[in-house]
Amino acid sequence: MCGIVAYIGKKEAFPILIKGLSRLEYRGYDSAGIALLDSGELNLYKKQGKVANLVEFTNGKNIHGNVGIGHTRWATHGEPNDVNAHPHYSMDKRIAVIHNGIIENYDTIREELIKRGYVFKSQTDTEALVHLIDDIQKTEKVELIEAVRHALQSVIGAYALVVISKDHPNQLIAARKSSPLVVGIGEDNSEFYLASDATPIVEYTNQVVYLNDEEIAVVDVNEGLRITNIANQEKTPYIQELELHLEALEKGGYEHFMMKEIFEQPRSIHDCFRGRLNAAEGFVQLGGLKDYEKRLLNAKRIVFVACGTSWHACQVAEYLIEDLARINVEVEYASEFRYRNPIISEKDVVIAVSQSGETADTLAALELAKARGASIFGICNVVGSSISRITDAGSYTHAGPEIGVASTKAFTAQVTVLTLLALRLAYKKETLSNSRFRSLLTELEAIPEKVKRVLDKNELIKEIAAHYKDSANALYLGRGSSFPVALEGALKLKEISYIHAEGYPAAEMKHGPIALIDEDMPVFVIATKGTSYEKVVSNIQEVKARKGKIIAIVTEGDTQVKEMADHVIEIPATDEHLVPLIATIPLQILSYHIALMRGCNVDQPRNLAKSVTVE
Ligand code: F6R
Repeated sequence: MCGIVAYIGKKEAFPILIKGLSRLEYRGYDSAGIALLDSGELNLYKKQGKVANLVEFTNGKNIHGNVGIGHTRWATHGEPNDVNAHPHYSMDKRIAVIHNGIIENYDTIREELIKRGYVFKSQTDTEALVHLIDDIQKTEKVELIEAVRHALQSVIGAYALVVISKDHPNQLIAARKSSPLVVGIGEDNSEFYLASDATPIVEYTNQVVYLNDEEIAVVDVNEGLRITNIANQEKTPYIQELELHLEALEKGGYEHFMMKEIFEQPRSIHDCFRGRLNAAEGFVQLGGLKDYEKRLLNAKRIVFVACGTSWHACQVAEYLIEDLARINVEVEYASEFRYRNPIISEKDVVIAVSQSGETADTLAALELAKARGASIFGICNVVGSSISRITDAGSYTHAGPEIGVASTKAFTAQVTVLTLLALRLAYKKETLSNSRFRSLLTELEAIPEKVKRVLDKNELIKEIAAHYKDSANALYLGRGSSFPVALEGALKLKEISYIHAEGYPAAEMKHGPIALIDEDMPVFVIATKGTSYEKVVSNIQEVKARKGKIIAIVTEGDTQVKEMADHVIEIPATDEHLVPLIATIPLQILSYHIALMRGCNVDQPRNLAKSVTVE
């Protein structure tokens, strides 16, 4: 949440910052702002709303400078407006700060500073930080870096921040704790980029350093990069090569990132199992977990922690791992787990699943599990993210950057990795017959082709969407591993179209939700062939008897549901355990079209941000 970007070097900073902010906008779009040093002056421009508003506001202004900082905000403290937008100035306009995270003790700091004569303009926690740095520098008469260090020693909370000062035109100071920050090293070690993730950096350099918690980086055009920690111990920068490609950050001819990402799924699912699965040879392995396999096999139970869509992927994994590998699985909301005093021991394996690898609650849940002796693993999409760095081991999903705020390809990639994990554990535990194991591998390899066939139904799904675009509510039903698909379908619809939607296990409908059904209620049902097919057919009849509208996802060639449903979307047949990988796709497409028909911003839904780095 919140995106930060900064540049220092020989180039004009303004276009680099604006482009960087556009790339980071998925992290929050309540306001955007920049501060630049030009001829000894520290100039600040900020505006409520999207980066486009800032661009419009700065149009025609003569903005120059080779050093600057930029911020795109997801509001926590203080409503979204121009004043609360970052950067925030010190009172004498000497220093400006951008910040992602939450300063939990900001109120105490603020009150103390007010007593000392500081006047606050905004309601943000960040403004307390900039005044604190300024106050320490003046009272302790120390260099800016020491003032930043001392300020951070008295701060409780999470931060990724960059400090710019007109007294130090050759340097920027950055620090992180629980919020991500990447340093890009440009030409001749005299040009630097700082950002919340690598997306604003990738077109300038592929040499990056990911800061660790409580590290402070000084980037200086004359002296290069120096990293210390808040206890002032010297750290050696670990320079990594970026494996991100620019085209992955562009829309590639699609109107929205969400649609591009939905259509990328045959490729992203394939990339996810490439090198990890070979059906002909009966081979399945997750390289990243190889050395820790025994811990998984001997685990008393596997506990998954995640949030949102990633939590739904874990729900699918529960069905897969328990049934195929016969290992006890629990799926926890990370936010509940961390505050529940959970019973965790060294016999447990705790796996975090996270697209961004930065979700604050998921990170904290992992830290708690680690402190209680569990082995901790991560399944993340963003390479180099915090979760991937604090875990004992893990696997990347290789879906490529997901920019649409609503998760699509990351979900199917997570389910793919989790399916590989279930199959590997089943193989090692010999819980499946050879023929069943082989058949599952073959089916998994065929999934990208089958997803393509569902994508070909885009126009049909759009026509169906038109019937339900004005609905006020929607229900999603499924059984077995299609229940999490129903949850995910409902989440997708509500978050991008603002239609109230709920997902239920189909049989639960009779225990309450059935009261909601009338002729205005669309009920989306995953009714594919499998163990519970007949039961779901009965549930459909119950809905029809109450005049509800049925939109059913059925297996190709189905006739029974077709006769009852108002609309059907046929999907290719596959093994029951792999249905989530295919059945999710039409629900994503439906939500996309409904949201678009309602005039919603599908890539940047209101109130949301992609990377939830605050709890
Ligand atoms: C919904 C969505 C969110 C995320 C959740 C967890 O479309 O994207 O529900 O799934 O915020 O994020 P990650 O996976 O980054 O931990």
